[in-house]
Amino acid sequence: MAAVDKEKLPVHIGFIMDGNGRWAQKRGMPRKMGHREGARTFRKIAKYCKKIGIKYVTFYAFSTENWKRPEDEVKELMRLFNEYLDEVQDYAKENTRLVFLGDKSAFGKQMAERMTELEKSSSGFDGMTLMLAMNYGGRDDILHAVRGIADMAAKKEIKLSDIDESLVSSMLYTKGMPDADLIIRPSGEKRISNFLLWQSAYAEFYFTDTLWPDFTEKELDAALNDFAARSRRFGGV
Ligand code: IPE
Ligand code: IPE
Ligand code: MG
Repeated sequence: MAAVDKEKLPVHIGFIMDGNGRWAQKRGMPRKMGHREGARTFRKIAKYCKKIGIKYVTFYAFSTENWKRPEDEVKELMRLFNEYLDEVQDYAKENTRLVFLGDKSAFGKQMAERMTELEKSSSGFDGMTLMLAMNYGGRDDILHAVRGIADMAAKKEIKLSDIDESLVSSMLYTKGMPDADLIIRPSGEKRISNFLLWQSAYAEFYFTDTLWPDFTEKELDAALNDFAARSRRFGGV
């Protein structure tokens, strides 16, 4: 890697994989071709993160709002996710732990079971943790945690005074993971679109006009250099 200070690497990077549709449209191709190309970029960038020593990486692949898209686009995305599942199995062999963020049940029993199985079989790996946010929404994440906490309170397993930030964090889909340090959003949009809301409280943001299928290792280096030069104060001085 070009000149990025290893000491100043983010522990947890989040990628909002956006711009696939526009990438395809610019080429006069159907949007689904953009998703296929975007899946290639996902593979390339996941491998690169591992190579340079990033410990946690989250890819936003499908939001709780993306179900609104035309049926054939959603269908193609589901087909690609099944391919991801075939492949991420290989990542597990490379000492990578896999975690899915979001309610798996929306994908149907068979796929949800495969996802759970991959999480279980890779749970002992500690080279890198790869999180795939699928049917994920930051609000849904918080809501799901609130329901869990309310349930514990109703069963008198916890008192009101036990409810603190660490309890909420431990009830999120990202349970046990550090908060995001750096969130990268390609495609020119400058918004969070319901990605890691709680976990991005003190994240640094990096926006680029590059569309996700065109995103490269070199551009990630640039984002990492930018991150390394920032002063993070967390409310202090
Ligand atoms: C991101 O690319 C992939 C998903 C949201 C599933 P988009 O499909 O949102 O691409 P644009 O934003 O329309 O270009
Ligand atoms: C965010 O992209 C979700 C993913 C990349 C999975 P969207 O394309 O859905 O976000 P908006 O609609 O531009 O905010
Ligand atoms: Mg988009």
